[in-house]
Amino acid sequence: MEILIRDNADVGCVLGAKIIAKTIRTKPNSVLGLATGRTPLRLYQELIRMHREEGLDFSQVTTFNLDEYVGLPGTHEQSYRYFMQENLFRHINIDVANTHVPDGTAAELHNECRAYEKKIIAAGGIDLQLLGLGRNGHIGFNEPTGSLRSRTWIKILSEQTLRDNSAVFGSFADMPKHALTMGIGTIMEARRCLLLAFGPAKTRAVEQMVEGPLSAICPGSALQEHLRCTVILDDSSAAGLRFADHYRWIDKNKLPWQRHD
Ligand code: F6R
Repeated sequence: MEILIRDNADVGCVLGAKIIAKTIRTKPNSVLGLATGRTPLRLYQELIRMHREEGLDFSQVTTFNLDEYVGLPGTHEQSYRYFMQENLFRHINIDVANTHVPDGTAAELHNECRAYEKKIIAAGGIDLQLLGLGRNGHIGFNEPTGSLRSRTWIKILSEQTLRDNSAVFGSFADMPKHALTMGIGTIMEARRCLLLAFGPAKTRAVEQMVEGPLSAICPGSALQEHLRCTVILDDSSAAGLRFADHYRWIDKNKLPWQRHD
């Protein structure tokens, strides 16, 4: 894992956007895996700015989102399709036909999951997968103790995740308790992973993911085995890391071509 610690989430998100922009400029028809949630919002704003002010071109880009709530149509304000439309897609020159979010309203959810995997393969696989980290260590909606080899499937959300996400739904009771999510096995096949985690609420999960044992108890720890995974943290999410000074040292002594900013 490449660990990059920045002063705050804002600087971290701008750095994450730079990495994504470089991916698109190097390969204009990149396939991006995308995430929703609070963490990547600022990163998406930066990508929109780069599109408007620097001509970052999304016309040939294809995207696959990690997950979607079961039962929510794309028109529902809390659906992840709606989130992506509002926070990224409608502000850039991407062809909406090339944007994919699992369909949580599909009549046959199992078929929808299998078809999603096939679509990723047909697109040539994911070049860069953007990820957030749940407070319990989840990535996508892969909750603790699920298989580290799982594929896109229907998952039951943990109480912790429901509590963390319930604010936007108004109440815990109104929330869907199930989601479709890429599996850990699906995420691990992305050629590159970029995970962002900020703030004190993520300190423990970050510690387990980066320095804990590789274990299904912390699904994010599977990324320790990924060949090319970059993790961007801020001072508070990195506060529990035993080797934080080492990561900063490595970062400071990179060769020019190894640097992202
Ligand atoms: C979202 C997703 C989740 C979130 C995670 C962190 O598509 O897959 O794993 O990345 O729950 O959420 P935030 O960013 O809201 O703290």
